[in-house]
Amino acid sequence: MALRRIVTEGDEILRKKCRPVPEITDRTRELIDDMIETLYDAEGVGLAAPQVGVLRRIFVVDIMDGTGPKVLVNPEIVETRGEQDGDEGCLSVPDKVGEVVRPEYVKIKGTGREGQPVEYEGEGLLARAFCHEYDHLDGILYTDKAKDVWEIQE
Ligand code: NI
Repeated sequence: MALRRIVTEGDEILRKKCRPVPEITDRTRELIDDMIETLYDAEGVGLAAPQVGVLRRIFVVDIMDGTGPKVLVNPEIVETRGEQDGDEGCLSVPDKVGEVVRPEYVKIKGTGREGQPVEYEGEGLLARAFCHEYDHLDGILYTDKAKDVWEIQE
């Protein structure tokens, strides 16, 4: 495994629509493992493939609730309910936070690291993370949707 460089806002790659993954190969698994390592190193809650310069529909999420990393390849959001308003940040938008409205509940389906079908339900922070990472696959940053974005005061 290896750490990958996280690209930041202003890089065109973050604005492109990612292509589906046709088949999970050893190379895909290597990318996924690198993304998980990079996510933990950066102390984030989610990381999408375009953030490490790969235009494929893959993301990883871990809200540190003890259940481990959730890997989604070719994800589809199949159900949303409710609404939550809260603060959100992004590893590709350093030192900023924004207030974003997201669904309170999200059901998401996709393929896991081993090629198996996966389905997750998330509420609160997990639902927010799924939506945020899913948006990255379509070239959307949270700053596009935020009511307000501000600098974190160190
Ligand atoms: Ni992000």
